Amino acid sequence: MKSAVHSLLVLLQVCSVELFASGRSSGGGGGGEQVWPVPYKRVDSRPDVDPFCQALYPFCPAGDPDGQIPVMSDTDTISIFRLQTPVWEFKYGNVLGRLHVMHDAIGFASSKTGRNFTMEWYELFQLGNCTFPHEREGLSAPFWCNQGAACFYGGIDDLHWKQNGTLEKIGEISGATFNELADWVQEDNRTGVFYETWAVKSSPGENATTWFESYDCSQFVHRAYKKLLELGAQLFSQTPTKYTKIYLYSAEPLYLGDDAIFQQTSTKDLATDIRWFYHLFRSHQTKGEMFQSLLEAVEKIVLEKTFYFYYNYQYWKLPMKYPYLNITYEEIAFP
Ligand SMILES: *[C@@H]1O[C@H](CO)[C@@H](O)[C@H](O)[C@H]1NC(C)=O
Ligand SMILES: *[C@@H]1O[C@H](CO)[C@@H](O)[C@H](O)[C@H]1NC(C)=O
Ligand SMILES: *[C@@H]1O[C@H](CO)[C@@H](O)[C@H](O)[C@H]1NC(C)=O
Ligand SMILES: *[C@@H]1O[C@H](CO)[C@@H](O)[C@H](O)[C@H]1NC(C)=O
Ligand SMILES: *[C@@H]1O[C@H](CO)[C@@H](O)[C@H](O)[C@H]1NC(C)=O
Ligand SMILES: *[C@@H]1O[C@H](CO)[C@@H](O)[C@H](O)[C@H]1NC(C)=O
Repeated sequence: MKSAVHSLLVLLQVCSVELFASGRSSGGGGGGEQVWPVPYKRVDSRPDVDPFCQALYPFCPAGDPDGQIPVMSDTDTISIFRLQTPVWEFKYGNVLGRLHVMHDAIGFASSKTGRNFTMEWYELFQLGNCTFPHEREGLSAPFWCNQGAACFYGGIDDLHWKQNGTLEKIGEISGATFNELADWVQEDNRTGVFYETWAVKSSPGENATTWFESYDCSQFVHRAYKKLLELGAQLFSQTPTKYTKIYLYSAEPLYLGDDAIFQQTSTKDLATDIRWFYHLFRSHQTKGEMFQSLLEAVEKIVLEKTFYFYYNYQYWKLPMKYPYLNITYEEIAFP
């Protein structure tokens, strides 16, 4: 209970400063045999962002405006770097670093030109917006600003990654392989567009069932590593490859439905309950409101054991289980 309260506090704190964002995707629900984890739903092409979603900090300011990735000479040798740094360390010192809320990226350096590059995947509107929706006047359904995307830009800021994080060379590829990876990045970026903050599991134990996988910066790095291995690259790290995961723990999730929940009269009470739940996590709360919200969130999540979860444009009810939620920093080997 104490640790759950602590984790909630951490989340509320983080969310209130709008560090947190996450996304949605789709997959299951409806009849038939449910597949776990619910597959993350890809789209044919990235939808336009609603003008309601306004980034406090511009997304990918140093990247190419059209998202172009430079073409390397086929015979070039490109070094690959594993990059990791505590989230937002500039603003909040090492607090999130101590909680091991880390951001992951990949670096590339051309031996022919001496130029280097950073590639990362993150929220368009910050983590808070990806984790909890907005209430919009005139709209009955919660409104999400939860896209995430890849950002590729020139330069590696060695100090930024090295000082409290990791900058480690983990392999080399040819320019030709890099160019193939670049094609994959464009495709991945076009079709995987919603950020998912939470991973949902049945328990913290080894043999737990994963109900939902997160879709965040570290998952992007894993997919890129997997693609690199498919393309024949060899990756090796001298230090453990650890990543931040934000978990919810629940018994088997119950599919609720999509935005229709908020339109049908038959699901009016459910709609009200979901809206009330997310209202607890709204941004711009005063300290007093936050404290009140925290108590109510604990009551809902810990005592009523209910968390309304959004994934793939769909809502699920999570029958929450101890320890409810946790932020872990766990080792995940190269694929
Ligand atoms: C989150 O979204 C709201 C609504 O668009 C926006 O006002 C706010 O700036 C966003 N937060 C961040 C940190 O981008
Ligand atoms: C990924 O998509 C975003 C949003 O459209 C865009 O800003 C960014 O440049 C793209 N990144 C790459 C590497 O194509
Ligand atoms: C690294 O952490 C130390 C101690 O928390 C802090 O003073 C320093 O500013 C951090 N460095 C960077 C680059 O964030
Ligand atoms: C990237 O390039 C910059 C500028 O040349 C250099 O200072 C930095 O050390 C390079 N970093 C890596 C990891 O290659
Ligand atoms: C997990 O499952 C494996 C294989 O079924 C079993 O050997 C192991 O003891 C289980 N571990 C735990 C912690 O239950
Ligand atoms: C949360 O995760 C940390 C790190 O994996 C672990 O040490 C701790 O016991 C977990 N807390 C709970 C309540 O399970």
